[in-house]
Amino acid sequence: MILSLAPMEGVTGYAFRKAHAECFGELDRYYTPFLVPPRLDFPFANRYAKELCQEGDEALDVVPQLLTKNADEFVWATQLLSEMGYAEVNLNVGCPSGTVANKGRGAGFLRDLAALEAFLQDVCVRSALPVSVKTRIGFANDNEFEEILETYCRCPIAELIVHPRVRADFYDGAPRRKAYGEALAKAPFPVAYNGDIFSVADIESLVAAYPETRHVMLGRGVVGNPALPRMIKGGPAATADELERFHDVLFHTYEERIGGNAVFRMKEWWSYAKELFVSPISVQRAVRKLKRVDEYEAAVSKIFRTEELVVDRIGQ
Ligand SMILES: Cc1cc2nc3c(=O)[nH]c(=O)nc-3n(C[C@H](O)[C@H](O)[C@H](O)COP(=O)(O)O)c2cc1C
Repeated sequence: MILSLAPMEGVTGYAFRKAHAECFGELDRYYTPFLVPPRLDFPFANRYAKELCQEGDEALDVVPQLLTKNADEFVWATQLLSEMGYAEVNLNVGCPSGTVANKGRGAGFLRDLAALEAFLQDVCVRSALPVSVKTRIGFANDNEFEEILETYCRCPIAELIVHPRVRADFYDGAPRRKAYGEALAKAPFPVAYNGDIFSVADIESLVAAYPETRHVMLGRGVVGNPALPRMIKGGPAATADELERFHDVLFHTYEERIGGNAVFRMKEWWSYAKELFVSPISVQRAVRKLKRVDEYEAAVSKIFRTEELVVDRIGQ
C-alpha cells in the first residue's frame, strides 16, 4: 500500500515533510501544496520556488502539484520541473476557495468538463512529465461524478486521486466513498483515495470495503498525528518525547525560513495536534495567544511535560 502526504497549503510544505521524514520515517510519496506556474519563459515565483529542490528532498519521492487552467503555462512548468529532476506532476482539480474556483481553476474546472478534457488531452501529450490528477467528485452535487469520471477515463493521465467530496462541501460532511469505488472499478489508470483517514480503523474500513485500494493519501490525519502512517503499518503510537522532537524540528525549520511567523504556523499545527491530548481545550488555550518565540517555547515545553496523551483514541 502506498501512503502519501496530501498537499495542504501552509501546512504540509517543505518544513512538514522534512520534520516528518526525519522523525517518523519517510512516507512513500509527498505532494507539494499547490504551486501556480510562472508565465512562459519565467522561473517559478520565489514563494513557490521555496517548495522545490530543498535540502533532503533528493531522498524523498516528491510530486509537485500545479494549480492552473492555462495549458501553455502548465507545460512550461513541467519543463522546469523535469530539469529539476521531478518524475511526475499533479494537477489540482479540487481547490474549493472562491477566488480559485470562480476563475475556473481547482474545483472550478469541474463546471466546464469540455475545457477540462481539452486541457488534459493537450497537456498529457505536451507535458515533460506524466500527469496525475487530484479531484473532487463534483462542484454542486455528487451526481455530476459519472460524467466527470467518464471525462477522466478518456484522458491519458497517470493516476487519479479521488477526494470524494463536492466543492460545495468544502471539508464538511462524510466523504462519499462510493464514488471512489466507482472510479476504482471503471478507470483504466491507477486510482488513489483521499479524505478523513484519521485512524487505523478508518483505513481498515476503507480497505475492507475496497480491497483493491493501493494508494491512500493522508492529510489532516497525519498532520495531527504524525505517527499515523507507522500505526497503519502496525507500529506504535507516538510518545510525548517523539512528538516533542517532531515539534522542535518543524518549528526550527519554520524559524529558519520565515523567522517570527513560525509561531503563527505552529499554532495551525496545534489546531490539529491538540486532539492527541486528553484535554485539547487546555492545549489550545496554552498556545492560542502567544506571539513571542520565548513565551511559545516555554508553553510548549510545559504541554509536553504536563498534558496527557490519548493513545487509546487512535486504535492502540
Ligand atoms: C489547510 C488546507 C490546505 C489545503 N491545500 C491543498 C492544496 O494545496 N492542494 C490540494 O490539492 N488540496 C489541498 N487541501 C485538501 C487536502 O489535500 C485533502 O484533500 C483534504 O484535506 C482531505 O483529506 P484529509 O481528510 O486526509 O485531510 C487542503 C486542505 C486543507 C485543510
